[in-house]
Amino acid sequence: MAERPWIVLKFGGTSVTGAARWARVREIVDARLAEGLRPLVVCSAISGISDALEALIAASAAGRDPTDALAEIEARHRTQADALGVSLEDACGDLLDDLRRLARGASLVAEASPRLRARVLSAGELLSTRIGAAWLAEQGVSVRWQDARAMLTSEPARGLPAEVRYLSARCGTQADPALQARLDALDAEVVLTQGFIARNPQGETVLLGRGGSDTSAALFAARVGAARLEILTDVPGMFTTNPRAVPSARLLRRLGYDEAQELASAGAKVLHPRAIAPARAHGIPILVGATDGPDDAFTEIGQPLPGPPRVKAVVARRGVGLVSMDTLGMWQEPGFLADAFAVFKAHGLSVDLVATSESNVTVSLDLAANALPPEVVEPLLADLGALCRARYIGPTGAVSLVGRGIRAILHELGPALERFRDHKVHLVSQAASDLNLTFVVDEPHLATLVDQLHARLFGSSRADELLGPRWDELGEAPPAPQRAGWWVARQEELLEEAARGTPCYAYDPDTLDRNISALLGLRSIDRVLYAIKANHHPEILRRVHARGLGFECVSPAELRFVRGLFGALPPERLLFTPNFAAAEEYAQGFEAGATVTLDSVYPLRHWPELFQDRAVFVRLDPGRGHGHHRYVVTAGKQSKFGVPASDLDELLDLVARHRVRVEGLHAHAGSGVHHLRAWVDKATLLASVAEQLPDVRVLDLGGGLAVPDRADQDPIDLAAIDASLMAFRAVHPRFTLWMEPGRFIIATAGALLARVNQVKGKDGRRFVGVDAGMNSLIRPALYGAWHEILNLSRLDAPPAWTADVVGPICETGDVLGHDRRLPETAEGDVMLIANAGAYGRTMASHYNMRPPGREVMMPPSCR
Ligand code: LLP
Repeated sequence: MAERPWIVLKFGGTSVTGAARWARVREIVDARLAEGLRPLVVCSAISGISDALEALIAASAAGRDPTDALAEIEARHRTQADALGVSLEDACGDLLDDLRRLARGASLVAEASPRLRARVLSAGELLSTRIGAAWLAEQGVSVRWQDARAMLTSEPARGLPAEVRYLSARCGTQADPALQARLDALDAEVVLTQGFIARNPQGETVLLGRGGSDTSAALFAARVGAARLEILTDVPGMFTTNPRAVPSARLLRRLGYDEAQELASAGAKVLHPRAIAPARAHGIPILVGATDGPDDAFTEIGQPLPGPPRVKAVVARRGVGLVSMDTLGMWQEPGFLADAFAVFKAHGLSVDLVATSESNVTVSLDLAANALPPEVVEPLLADLGALCRARYIGPTGAVSLVGRGIRAILHELGPALERFRDHKVHLVSQAASDLNLTFVVDEPHLATLVDQLHARLFGSSRADELLGPRWDELGEAPPAPQRAGWWVARQEELLEEAARGTPCYAYDPDTLDRNISALLGLRSIDRVLYAIKANHHPEILRRVHARGLGFECVSPAELRFVRGLFGALPPERLLFTPNFAAAEEYAQGFEAGATVTLDSVYPLRHWPELFQDRAVFVRLDPGRGHGHHRYVVTAGKQSKFGVPASDLDELLDLVARHRVRVEGLHAHAGSGVHHLRAWVDKATLLASVAEQLPDVRVLDLGGGLAVPDRADQDPIDLAAIDASLMAFRAVHPRFTLWMEPGRFIIATAGALLARVNQVKGKDGRRFVGVDAGMNSLIRPALYGAWHEILNLSRLDAPPAWTADVVGPICETGDVLGHDRRLPETAEGDVMLIANAGAYGRTMASHYNMRPPGREVMMPPSCR
């Protein structure tokens, strides 16, 4: 069959799990045979098996009995074999015996070397392909199973660590005429083999590392001079962004090798970056498509097509950490960079992006986990400390705009780049290859930024020779990930409430109580004051009061409201933190019995009589702010809050002159702060200023605890914040610590219910219009804030639409959510806008003379 050209087909784990998938593998193989091609099929292990093998190794290496782990692996393959009507013993008996021997041996000596791990892990691919080959043969396919280790030999790797040699081996991309001749001569039409595994020059089993099956397939294609390489997976190709996160992402029909490589390296998961070079070296086209997908939906990767430069995709990569090094003039010194990089190397960290200035060098690190653990960061910073002042910034994420010749179209990116106005950009990098523009931002903002950039760059795009159908048009979109919220169990009650009138803010007391309990569980914090600007509904305040919290108020009206509900409160439960307030407001604060906070020296300078012989708190500007949007960053040069370091001398002088006792120092750096060290950093700064103010007993660390907007974000790690503050307290026993969160307490406990007025389609876009607009909830319009939106009337219906959810206000910005996956939605349905308890109703208005949502506290649930 030598005259038939080879085609390499690679099927990933989900594509080879279950009988239905193998039926599809067969259809595809038949179709390629009908094209006159000879398939070399490369398969992964069945889904979940690589993890199960890792667990087996972990158990054995710990000296535990591996019987259960082995049984689990065998059971999974038995299910697969039974489903295909294949005898597991006949197809795989020898492999399973080997696996048992290896695991038992490792368990006896309680040790698993990289060499042994490679042998154990290779079992996944060997087992899946043996079963698959047996089934195909029974189906009458002319197939021959081949051991990949007899076809692929890794390059000599002397001197490298054993981990790399056995688990992440490299193979050359050269053609292999001897292999091709051997395969050509086989008396079967189809060859079936394994991805991920190879042998080294000594004949031992080695693995090709993460994503190794794609790499294997590309290497086989190079070796046999295949006419085409097809990567068959669970998405129909590469998209303008991750379609699972942004369902309006468009399929990319055609990419150059270099662009695909850039996309894969920047974070697109469909194709492993190492799989491109072997195909590129031999000019072999790569097709990426879905095993189950339509035949005409795929991405073809090949030589670049001529055409004007264009942005092809927006790619996000999580798990980036930054190290900022203030070089104090040493950057010009010969050898500084070499010395600094040597430190990273010594800590086993590889540097990705680099930005330099006269006095600072900032580098990014590609992290396997989302953040560097302190046991890695601290020694790294200590070693760098010998060269420069080093600081770790993380977790951050990178967002890249990818496309060849991007420098030539910078002017076209203007509107999209406006999106960065609202986010702190730590580092910008522009690849020397002119293929990407990368921005490193705080990781929690990554998803929102990608949404926004993609909407700007591709929102009104149409299909053309480059852009294919949208993901949601392909009928592919799975349900958007949704955090199961309290509203699921209370669906019926909420619908009844909505029937009494919408828009309506509904509050769940159980969630409120849980949030309060989480804060009261902080051992380092002596007092929690609720920032009532977030939501002052009396029922909420009563519950907060009953749990012993205090209140942080920013206006005389807020103070009066709290006093109206609870009468006089001791000063440690009533804090007044106004900003640019008139003189009489401070007087009212003292009259109300509140602890009064000054956030500038102006009142002391101009109205000293108000403060003479009194105790006050002073709000300092910690110099560096954080927050989910620049409007809520309340520290640093851009912000109007707090006494700056440059005014400290005058402050000390004024308080001494007027016998004002400064009993507390305060710092609030912003809202929606994910940075876990923000609170201990503020404490440290306040403590250093307190050295000059002997009366200070209290350090108030402000609010700002972030609340995740999206299902894929983790809740803020309160335990980590607590641990850092406990360590602070051990060194500074003089102070008691206060905190004053708003959003953390009430955001998740509130939902806005809105009724659908109309639905309409316009120019390929769909709009769901509800009766709550920006007058009820302004956060999306003002900050681009992301609130999950569900159709509460049809919670269980599958998503069918991608729509913008809009309100009835006469402004284009009156959008509650862009591009949301919703079930088919009709007039009268009740939509639920989640996490709207904080800064929802309190920021509402009567704009357009439309009343904002009413409010209701639900009864405690009887669960
Ligand atoms: N303390 C002070 C002095 C504050 O200014 C604030 C909020 C807080 C505490 C409470 O911060 P929280 O824990 O709620 O983040 N409207 C924006 C938030 C503005 C926050 C203003 N100050 C939003 O909807 O995200």
